[in-house]
Amino acid sequence: MNIEVENLFFSYGDLPILEDASFSISSTEFIGIFGPNGGGKTTLLKILLGLLSPTKGSVRIDGMPPRNTRGMIGYVPQVIQSDHRFPISTLDVVLTGCLHTLKWMGIFPEKAKKAAKSALDKVGLSHKANAPFGTLSGGEAQRAIIARAIANDPKYLFLDEPTANIDAQAEKEFYDLLSLLSSQMTILMVSHDLHTAVHRVSRLLYVHRRVSFLDKKEICEHFALGLYHSPLSAGTHEHFAL
Ligand SMILES: Nc1ncnc2c1ncn2[C@@H]1O[C@H](COP(=O)(O)OP(=O)(O)O)[C@@H](O)[C@H]1O
Ligand SMILES: [Mg+2]
Repeated sequence: MNIEVENLFFSYGDLPILEDASFSISSTEFIGIFGPNGGGKTTLLKILLGLLSPTKGSVRIDGMPPRNTRGMIGYVPQVIQSDHRFPISTLDVVLTGCLHTLKWMGIFPEKAKKAAKSALDKVGLSHKANAPFGTLSGGEAQRAIIARAIANDPKYLFLDEPTANIDAQAEKEFYDLLSLLSSQMTILMVSHDLHTAVHRVSRLLYVHRRVSFLDKKEICEHFALGLYHSPLSAGTHEHFAL
């Protein structure tokens, strides 16, 4: 098991967000993370990244505390804010994923440039390397942000609602890309689009203060029957975000 979480609790001040979460994820998995707004999905990713510390409990990534493993994780945060008038090239955006290699003169070593170009190639955007980032379509921009997250050759890739701003065609290409990457790295993806994502991920983690794995087969059957809301909105998953 590569990610091991045991009896994790997290609160913002007095506000409990995660309660007694225990789960394990192995290296070959592509995990979809679901749950209502405010359920604690982003908080959970930030804890796994070592950006937030648990109030109680244990988190181990490859046997280490998250503060020691941050360099092994590529992260695509929930909202990518970019000033589209700012004339930064697509390659430069990807290079910001290699900031730790920046020399004191502000020059990236050739190795970083090579890694950034190779990441752009992986996401199918080599031809846009010199195009201003602001001229990319929503789907292309999202792929460039993924290239930035994988430029360091991470073992893990965390994505927080990555399909929120892209259209259906771009979304299909995006999932094809993730399927390809999932053979090279462990992927954890927060998504609101359970209907599409359920067919792409290996397991589904439901986060609503408590954390539990959902039965993927059961959910697929519900969708196949055209039962979108009722089975999932009954009982324990009353605020399921679809
Ligand atoms: N920095 C913060 N301080 C206090 N409360 C926060 C902070 N960040 C998030 N929260 C609250 O924690 C809860 C969980 O947030 P979050 O993890 O972002 O949920 P999700 O990603 O599932 O929508 C929400 O109620 C949110 O308002
Ligand atoms: Mg969130």
